[in-house]
Amino acid sequence: MGPVIEIKNLTKSFGDKKILNGINLDIHKGEIMYIIGKSGAGKSVLLKHICALMMPDSGSIYIEGNDIFSISKKELEKIRKKVGVLFQMAALFDSMTVFENVAFSLRRFTKKSNEEIKTIVSEKLALVGLKSVEDKAPSSLSGGMQKRVGLARAIALDPEIVLYDEPTTGVDPILASAVDDLILTLSRELKVTTLVISHDMNSTFKVASKAAMLYDGKFILTGEPEEFKECKDPIVNQFIRGEAKGPIPIL
Ligand SMILES: Nc1ncnc2c1ncn2[C@@H]1O[C@H](COP(=O)(O)OP(=O)(O)OP(=O)(O)O)[C@@H](O)[C@H]1O
Ligand SMILES: [Mg+2]
Repeated sequence: MGPVIEIKNLTKSFGDKKILNGINLDIHKGEIMYIIGKSGAGKSVLLKHICALMMPDSGSIYIEGNDIFSISKKELEKIRKKVGVLFQMAALFDSMTVFENVAFSLRRFTKKSNEEIKTIVSEKLALVGLKSVEDKAPSSLSGGMQKRVGLARAIALDPEIVLYDEPTTGVDPILASAVDDLILTLSRELKVTTLVISHDMNSTFKVASKAAMLYDGKFILTGEPEEFKECKDPIVNQFIRGEAKGPIPIL
């Protein structure tokens, strides 16, 4: 079987700043691919391309063999149904309750009854360790709780593919470890194909089946986590050890 997600020669610039400069990546069914790289490297930009929320200057992305930048809107909707996304800034709808946020794609993409939706929403909220928050406004929750709601929303439709943008950033270590376990469980039990953007090297080494490091518009290393530990490249080495050299970098 071919890759579930296939990225080919993707390039993207903003003004004269080349952010993605020929990105190639294959993600296979059930794999947990981590994308690492410093702040401003272009990780979230890459994720937005995979969701077809941004168009590249050149290159393609295939999801289950479909070229997402050239298929019809209707076909794209079909693919969107299979992909759950947790954006970096939880991106919850503030005018809606927590319940409505998690129920959003169930209402949009399925014909499930209100009763069924209710059951699924509380099931997903329980999975991320939340209860009795259905009627609250997202803005009344802490950052970590909002992240949990975002996670519940991302997995509401039992997606085959889940994309997470920094799921463990800004959350306490207990939740971070629960998120790691959730990613592993979804992948092992439901064969979900996963892409995680992360700065969290603990999580990367614990969870990733493969990782790719974005640097200067390209993946400078793609491989199993062990290869990152053994890699002699000073840029990779410095990043995974979290060593700062010199002053705070200017983005
Ligand atoms: N819509 C946009 N218009 C112009 N520039 C953008 C846009 N989106 C992102 N950029 C620029 O692209 C670069 C990469 O941004 P991106 O958000 O992908 O970084 P990142 O790797 O996700 O960083 P972080 O780890 O801090 O989240 C940054 O310099 C950012 O300013
Ligand atoms: Mg980002």
